[in-house]
Amino acid sequence: MNAASAHPPLDRLDGPDWWRGAVGYEIYVRSFLDSNGDGMGDLPGIASKLDNLADLGVDVVWITPFYPSPGKDHGYDVADYTDIDPQFGTLADLDALVTTAHEHGLRVFADIVPNHSSDQHPWFQAAIADVDSPYRDYYLFRPAAADGGPPNNWVSHFGGPAWTLDPAGTGEYYCHLFLPEQPDLNWANPAVMDEFLAILRFWVDRGIDGFRIDVAHGLTKDPEFRDNPQIREITPGMHPTEIFESFDHVHDLHRLGTTLIYQRWHEEVAPFGTILLGEMDSSNIDRFREYVGRGAGLDGGFVLTVSSMIWHPESIISDLLTFDHAANGGAAWALSNHDQPRVVSRFGGGEVGVHRALAVMTIMVALDGITFLYQAEELGLPNAVIVGANEDPITTRNDGAAGRDVARGPVPWTNGPNNGFTTAGRAWLQIEPLPADMTVDAQVADPHSNRHRYQQLIGLRKRSPQLWQTPMELSRRTEAELIIRRGDLTVVANLGTEPYDYVADARFVIEFESRAGGATVDVNRLRVHPESTVVIRHDDHLEPEAQA
Ligand code: NOJ
Repeated sequence: MNAASAHPPLDRLDGPDWWRGAVGYEIYVRSFLDSNGDGMGDLPGIASKLDNLADLGVDVVWITPFYPSPGKDHGYDVADYTDIDPQFGTLADLDALVTTAHEHGLRVFADIVPNHSSDQHPWFQAAIADVDSPYRDYYLFRPAAADGGPPNNWVSHFGGPAWTLDPAGTGEYYCHLFLPEQPDLNWANPAVMDEFLAILRFWVDRGIDGFRIDVAHGLTKDPEFRDNPQIREITPGMHPTEIFESFDHVHDLHRLGTTLIYQRWHEEVAPFGTILLGEMDSSNIDRFREYVGRGAGLDGGFVLTVSSMIWHPESIISDLLTFDHAANGGAAWALSNHDQPRVVSRFGGGEVGVHRALAVMTIMVALDGITFLYQAEELGLPNAVIVGANEDPITTRNDGAAGRDVARGPVPWTNGPNNGFTTAGRAWLQIEPLPADMTVDAQVADPHSNRHRYQQLIGLRKRSPQLWQTPMELSRRTEAELIIRRGDLTVVANLGTEPYDYVADARFVIEFESRAGGATVDVNRLRVHPESTVVIRHDDHLEPEAQA
């Protein structure tokens, strides 16, 4: 493609940094909306609701993998990187979705999965059919250890060793940091880079505006395949995630060469204005910082620490400030995603979880970078209650271990059967019906709904560039309180349990409060009630009456 072809630029957010200050929305394709009655969400379903998302005020939709896949990890096992899985639609459906999105002023991000393919991908099939095939070196085949076991101590995120015996019977093992059906690609082979540059261009050509890069920190591995240092004992019954975290992943994740890969990607796609956002392990802040920002390859990185936070006001505030500082404008914020329990449940559930989530979201709109909502987060949706079989391989392959299905329930659209998600008898993941006031229809109709509050907050971020552009002045009286002043706007967050009195040095009006009655005003004193965040606008010209 050349820069002049295909899709004209959108005029709503322009310039290379258009995505900073934007609000994104993650769509888990299987669970958004089923348009053809097979129980599975699909691309036409998404396209039919883009008006709803534009109305909410989002700028970007990130759609989880829609490529042909055996579905062992629900699309993160890709069998063909340049086509659409028939259960989600066709390339023509994707084109139509992109066109409609652009008409609504929305940009579309695809989810690219470069760390591993499916074992059904023709590359892997060729690699195991013929050891002399050039595709053998697309993957990480290694000789067995002296005892015939796996080559080293690396473990899979999803349980068991990160090595499986070559089905071709060579006695070698291949590496997979996830399921055995997700063999890791060999990024030391330049042919893999060439393949992916062509894949990126294929989607850019179809109008895709950016990529969320799956496991962005995992692509390069130690050339000597040394053991990872073990940092704690592994005991029987441990969850696979705990086992994974019992090692220091110096040899299989976060290796320095990984950033060079993204510098090459950036050269390839930046001329088209395409944005690269990595899914980054953020447990090590120095490593996180290496990937993002000017010259680092990635425009931004998801701060996964934030997507798994539990309700602990002091650490929530300190994590937000630490990563905002470290990312230097390159943070992609999300309180929830498809891999973690929903934020409302992590923050205590029920009404309490709902208002706490919005109190934190209100702080996040005053941070630099892009802020994502995970589908139905704006409704205040808690974890789904699964009534049928679990589907997540973490659960199904580890004796019922806690998995990710709770975050993956269908979006509740209406109060009808299956909450309007599908006309099939059953959804692909069957959950307990949600109450009528939790549906999109009900919340669109109710001016006091949670969705309306999110809509107001998003609107405030978008009409107030000072919220992410003007330098921050920070103050804190206690660890559970945070004042962020940016230009004429001040965000006063009180995540503590006592009311907090903020005395303003100028007259002000309340622009937003995270919950009704979350604040009271007495001349220039703002009382912020517990677990609330309030945004005020200072204005010396206001008459005192205007503050009531
Ligand atoms: C991260 C994705 O978000 C998750 O859903 C997936 O299982 C792994 N990467 C492996 O691709």
